[in-house]
Amino acid sequence: MFQPGLLKGQTILITGGGTGLGRAMAVRFAELGGRIFLAARREEPLRETAEEIKKKGGEAAWATCDVRDFAAVEKAVAAAKSALGRPTVLVNNAAGNFVCPTERLSPNAFASVVGIVLHGTFHCTLALGREWIQAKQPGAVLNIVATYVWTGSGFVVPSACAKAGVLALTRSLAVEWARYGIRLNAIAPGPFPTEGAWSRVIPSKDFEEQHRRRHPMQRFGRHEELANLAAFLISPQAGYINGDCITIDGGQWLRQGGQFNDLLDVPQHLWDELEKARRSRK
Ligand code: HXC
Ligand code: NAP
Repeated sequence: MFQPGLLKGQTILITGGGTGLGRAMAVRFAELGGRIFLAARREEPLRETAEEIKKKGGEAAWATCDVRDFAAVEKAVAAAKSALGRPTVLVNNAAGNFVCPTERLSPNAFASVVGIVLHGTFHCTLALGREWIQAKQPGAVLNIVATYVWTGSGFVVPSACAKAGVLALTRSLAVEWARYGIRLNAIAPGPFPTEGAWSRVIPSKDFEEQHRRRHPMQRFGRHEELANLAAFLISPQAGYINGDCITIDGGQWLRQGGQFNDLLDVPQHLWDELEKARRSRK
């Protein structure tokens, strides 16, 4: 399904591309022929990921950048242009998150997460969008959100607010910038084990196991599953998909919503007995 040269000719800027899902996407996009530019705060993960891509024969470069700082974002875009050419694709993957009862949050804790997720996404989108519009060049933006953009979620309120804002940005600009040939889409992942997410939002092994057991497929996502979806959405093959958000969670968020879904816990033998009782009543 994914031809080796699918992303040939694309220069892809990925924020938070040194770790977790950002790294998985970077490596996969490079395998498919894309040139990869990574931007995040810490040097080490960026360097390691770029090295891994180069070792496999791909092209990659990086710059440190805090996406909350618009001037730093503009510098990173300039660095990407001089290293690999003007990016044609932006993946807004960088995020900050932690679980905390909302009444315990400080205003700065809220601002920190919203700054990374919502302001950071806006900064990168604005910097590259302006470039594309000025150069009369098409572009594609992929925003990584979360399934609580549909439902909201307690204990991650700054992230839920920020990700919902990112979805609004995606849908708004998909319409406003379509005339410039710029497409914007989003992915809402369910649970994908990464060091960054697990250390901040999965407080214990028990919670992880409970999370897994309650999942309709009884498993978490695999990084390559998300990377392949992302590759499709940024590729020219998805040229008519604009303003959408694709959920990739194995049905997890729907399982939380349906009022009878807890019947999954009913064992087969009990269904057999219920059926027998129903038939004997006739
Ligand atoms: C309450 C907290 C906190 C916590 C930090 N703060 N951690 N408050 N509970 N666990 C508060 C601090 O006290 C401070 O407020 C403010 O937040 C900023 O904290 P800093 O450490 O100074 O911020 P900074 O160094 O900018 O770090 C940002 C961060 C950090 C978001 C706090 O966790 C980070 O760098 N995260 C990046 C990676 C990440 O989060 N990955 C997970 C993505 S997973 P005061 O008032 O004291 O100054 C995801 C989806 C998960 O998004 C869904 C899974 C199913
Ligand atoms: P991760 O490894 O912690 O990824 C977050 C990345 O963002 C890190 O590389 C981090 O690098 C970068 N980052 C954080 N703050 C930044 C800032 N101010 N400026 C620039 N970069 C910054 O976690 P992940 O699980 O792979 O998450 C990737 C994306 O998937 C996020 O958008 C997350 O919300 C989303 N998501 C993940 C899951 C999941 O289950 N894993 C579920 C739903 C959604 P530095 O610290 O070096 O800056």
